[in-house]
Amino acid sequence: MKLWAGRFQKETDKTVNDFNSSIGFDARLYKEDITGSMAHANMLASCGIISQDDAQAICAGLQEILLDIEAGKIAFSAENEDIHMNVETLLTQRIGDAGKRLHTARSRNDQVALDFRMYLRGKTGTIKAMLLTLEETLIKLAGQYQNTVMPGYTHLQRAQPITFAQHLLAYGSMFRRDITRLEDCRARMNECPLGSGALAGTTYPIDRFQTAKALGFDAPVMNSLDGVSDRDYAVELLSDLSLIMMHLSRFCEEIILWCSWEFKFIELDDAYATGSSIMPQKKNPDVAELVRGKTGRVYGSLMGLLTVMKSLPLAYNKDMQEDKEGVFDAVDTVEQCLPVFTAMLATVRVREDNMRAAASRGFLNATDCADYLTKKGLPFRDAYKVSGKLVYYCTEHDKTLETLGIEELRQFSPLFGEDVYAALSLDTCVRQRKSFGGPSPEQTAMQLDALKAFVQQHRQSETE
Ligand code: ARG
Repeated sequence: MKLWAGRFQKETDKTVNDFNSSIGFDARLYKEDITGSMAHANMLASCGIISQDDAQAICAGLQEILLDIEAGKIAFSAENEDIHMNVETLLTQRIGDAGKRLHTARSRNDQVALDFRMYLRGKTGTIKAMLLTLEETLIKLAGQYQNTVMPGYTHLQRAQPITFAQHLLAYGSMFRRDITRLEDCRARMNECPLGSGALAGTTYPIDRFQTAKALGFDAPVMNSLDGVSDRDYAVELLSDLSLIMMHLSRFCEEIILWCSWEFKFIELDDAYATGSSIMPQKKNPDVAELVRGKTGRVYGSLMGLLTVMKSLPLAYNKDMQEDKEGVFDAVDTVEQCLPVFTAMLATVRVREDNMRAAASRGFLNATDCADYLTKKGLPFRDAYKVSGKLVYYCTEHDKTLETLGIEELRQFSPLFGEDVYAALSLDTCVRQRKSFGGPSPEQTAMQLDALKAFVQQHRQSETE
C-alpha cells in the first residue's frame, strides 16, 4: 500500500511504478535522509508538535535502520518509490504509530532537497581533499625540477624556454582555483531547505533555525518556494567538476604527448601503463587517455541538468528527479579520476636530458637574442627583425643562434659582442626570466612557497 494511496481507487500500473521509482539510484542518500529525519523529529518534539517519547522512538528506530542498511540487511522496494518512502515505511513497520508522525510538517519536496544538498556538501569536502593531495604531489615534483629546462610551447610549437617546475606549477595554480571554487560552491549550497514543506511552508510552529543548525547549515533557505525548486547548487558543483576535468584532461593530453617517442620527456611507471595484445613493444598511457575521455561524461551531466531545469515552472516538478543520476555519475567519475591520476603523476620518470635537448633545438632563444640587441639600444621592433633574419639564416645553413661565429652575427648587427653567447645560453634565458610569476628558479621558488602555504592552510581548515 502506497503512503499516498488515500486518494486513489486503483493500484498504480506496474510499468508506472517502475518508471516513477528512483530507489535504484537515490538509495545512496540513505544516510542524509536518516540524519535529516532525526533532526526533523527532534525539532518537532522541542516545538511541542510531537511528544518527546515519539521523537525518541523515531530516532532509535532510524538509528537501527541505518545500521541495518550499512550491514546490507535491507532490500529496498520499488513499490516504495524512493529512499524517503522506503525509510519511512520501514520505520513505521518497526515502531508503529510514532513512525507515522515523522512526516508531520514536512514534504518529500523539502526532504529530497535537503538530502541532495547534504550529500553534495559532503562531496565538496571529499573532492577538495583529493585535490589537496594532487597539489602535494605537484609541490614535491616541482621542488625536484626547478632547474630542469624544457621547451615552453604555443601552438604546440617550441616557443621559449621554461622549467618543468614552472609547467607543473601552472597546473598547481589551476587546481588551486578548483579548490577555492568548491569552497565557494559549498558556502552558497550550505542553506537548509528543510521546513519549506511541499512549497508553501507549514502551519505548524516549526523551528527551521533549529534543524538548520542541527544539520550543520549556516541558515535556513529564506524562501520556501526557492527551497524546494532550485537545483542551482548541483549545477554549480557540476560546473566546478567540469573545470576540474578540463584541467585534468589538458594535463593528461600533455602526459600522453610527453611519453610518446616523439617527445620522451617522461616515462610512465609500469604500474600505471598498459600493454598491447598484439604489439609487444607497446606501453600505453591508458590511464591518462581514460581520464581525458571521462571528461566528456562530466560535461554531459552538466549540460543534462541545465537542460532538465530549463523552463520548469515553480515549484517542484517530477522532472527534477532526473537531477540525480548525472550528478552522482559526475561525482563518482571525479572521485575515480583524481586518485589514479595523482598516483600516475607521482611515479613518472622525468627525462631531463630529452627536455633539455628539445629546448636547445627550435630557436627558443630567438626572443632573448632580440632582447639582447634591445638592451644594447636598438628599438625592440628592429631587434626583432634582426633576430628573425638570423633565424632564417640559421635554418638555411642548419645552424643554431648560439653556434654562429661572432663575425657571422655582426653581419646582421654591429651591436653583437662576445657577451651574446652567455645571453643566448638556455640557462641564462631561463634564469633571466625573473619577472613576477616567471620561470626563473627564484620565481618558481616563490610560487612553490605560496602553494605550500595554501595547501597547509586548507588542510588545516579541513580538520576544523
Ligand atoms: N523521488 C523524488 C525526487 O527525487 C522525491 C520527491 C518527490 N516529490 C513528489 N512530490 N513526487 O525528486
